[in-house]
Amino acid sequence: MTKNKQELFAVARAAMENAHAPYSFYRVGAAVRGGSGKIYGGTNVENASYPEGWCAETSAIGALITAGEKTITEICVLGGGETPATPCGGCRQRLSEFASPQTPVYVGTKHGLSGSYSMADLLPEAFKLKSEEDDLL
Ligand code: THU
Repeated sequence: MTKNKQELFAVARAAMENAHAPYSFYRVGAAVRGGSGKIYGGTNVENASYPEGWCAETSAIGALITAGEKTITEICVLGGGETPATPCGGCRQRLSEFASPQTPVYVGTKHGLSGSYSMADLLPEAFKLKSEEDDLL
């Protein structure tokens, strides 16, 4: 595994340990690298009112945005159990807001990484609006 991937894996793996998943018992860990090179972790946060829970990727995006970053250059998602998880449809859309079609998405489990996609593989023809903020970037 390259150093870059290893770093993302370690952050996602640690985040997964903190999952709040008392309803599905399915822990997910995510890590996103910002344009600055820093990595932000996230995990799934379930709720007794089931639809109010959210995904690991969404938590990681929240951490990245809260830190003042606007772009995602690498993504890692680790599924609980023995098979890798790919981001759900809603998270693909959320990730595409800050990633590019070429942004790599590494997937795996707590044991290691086992696959790699691009954002365009996972969400072809992503919906985007050009925001006024783009002109400032
Ligand atoms: N989950 C994620 O965290 N990311 C995904 O991409 C798919 C699903 C979480 C949500 C819920 O807490 C649990 O996995 C089972 O669906």
